[in-house]
This record gives sequence, structure tokens and C-alpha cells, in this order.
Amino acid sequence: MRRKLAAGNWKMNGVTAALGELDALQEAASGPADVLICPPATLIATASAKAGDLAIGGQDCHTARSGAHTGDLSAEMLKDAGATYVILGHSERRADHGETDALVAEKSRAAWSAGLTSIICVGETLDEREGGKTLDIIGMQLAASVPDGCTAENTVVAYEPVWAIGTGKVPTTAQIAEVHAFIRSSLIQRFGNSVASAIPVLYGGSVKAANAAEIFAVDDVDGALVGGASLKASDFAPIVRALNAA
Ligand code: 13P
Repeated sequence: MRRKLAAGNWKMNGVTAALGELDALQEAASGPADVLICPPATLIATASAKAGDLAIGGQDCHTARSGAHTGDLSAEMLKDAGATYVILGHSERRADHGETDALVAEKSRAAWSAGLTSIICVGETLDEREGGKTLDIIGMQLAASVPDGCTAENTVVAYEPVWAIGTGKVPTTAQIAEVHAFIRSSLIQRFGNSVASAIPVLYGGSVKAANAAEIFAVDDVDGALVGGASLKASDFAPIVRALNAA
């Protein structure tokens, strides 16, 4: 059985007052699915101190353990603040900061060294989908962003079609199934069946309470990476419950 994970990516949202949402998630988080909140880095330590059944993660890390990198955070620092996961290669970082697959892989190695689990994001743009290139793009991103040494304990893969993020547009369940099956078979080819069949693969992009159960029923969908609908417990808890029930 693969572990199931409902992960909330708060992006650049939330100050201390937002941490009240964590209390309201505790009941939903006591079910079988793992529940993770990735708040802005400024809140990780405070969030970790009151996390209860929730895991806390970062949204990015540097490749180096320490050094002259003004404004950056190392994986070790995230871990020290109480994080157990880190999101890497999110399409917003790939777009806003020019992050390449090779950099994402280097960051993942740094995360593993610090004892964090990497959530490595892949996903096609609308142009790429309309050009029939979705699986080629996902295949290339996976091959170059996921380092050798990937295991079910140190890595989660998140499929986030760029055109579905924050847009309210969601792929059909058949489209999600096609990409998730492709990701699973690519991971099996590279890492072998026993490792790859245990790696959680999340779907992300406009997940909300109303579509969560349908998405979680798709083969090889082991949870979700949720942006907007993770900011309020009243929106996120029903998504967690849908995963608990899936
Ligand atoms: P939305 O759920 O707001 O579409 O964002 C998805 C996402 O980017 C999670 O990382």
C-alpha cells in the first residue's frame, strides 16, 4: 500500500494569524492519509511547534548547506525549523526563478542529505499539451529532476499541469490517469518495481472539495498538492477527508 498524502502549499500567503487554521485541521488529519502544510518559511518554526498530527514543509531550498547566498535557505535550516518535507521545482519557481531540471535535482540531493522528503513537481504548459507533447515533457522533467537514489521514503512526485494551477481548469480524469500511469511506469523503469510502486504521486492544480473525490478515485493518484484551497481549514479539511475515504 502506498501512503496517501494531502499537501497544502500556502505559497506566499499567510502571517502568524493564519496558523489558527492548523488547529482546525487536526480532526481530519487524524485519519489514514498524511497531511502536510507548507507555509511560508517565516512560519515553519511556529507551525511546527503546534503541528500536532500535521507535517510541516518548506516550499524551496538552496543546493548548499550554508554560505554566502543572501536571502536563501538551506535544507538543513528547514529541517532545523521543524520541516520534514520540501516542495521542489514548482512551476512558479521554474517560471519566476528560471529553475532548471538540473537545479531541481541538485536541490533534491541537498534535501535528502538534510533528511527531508522532496516533493518534486512536474507539469506541462497549455502550449505543450495542445502540441501533443505532454508525456514527452513529463518524461524529460522526471528524468532530469529526480536524482538517482530516489526512494519511496525520500521522494514524492507531484503532477501539476501549469495550466490548471490557480485557474479553476482541471484535466479530465482520463487525462490525469494517462499522466499518472506514465509517471508510474517511468519510475518503475528507472528505479524498479519495488521502489517505484511505493512512491506517492500527487495531482495538483485547482483541487477543491467538489472535485477531490473524483480525482482521488483515479488509479495511481495518491493524494493532492493543493494551493488556494489549502489556505482555509474549512476548504482543506473536506479534501483531506475525501482522501481518507478514497
Ligand atoms: P491551486 O490549487 O491554487 O490551483 O495551486 C496548485 C499548486 O500550485 C499547488 O502547488
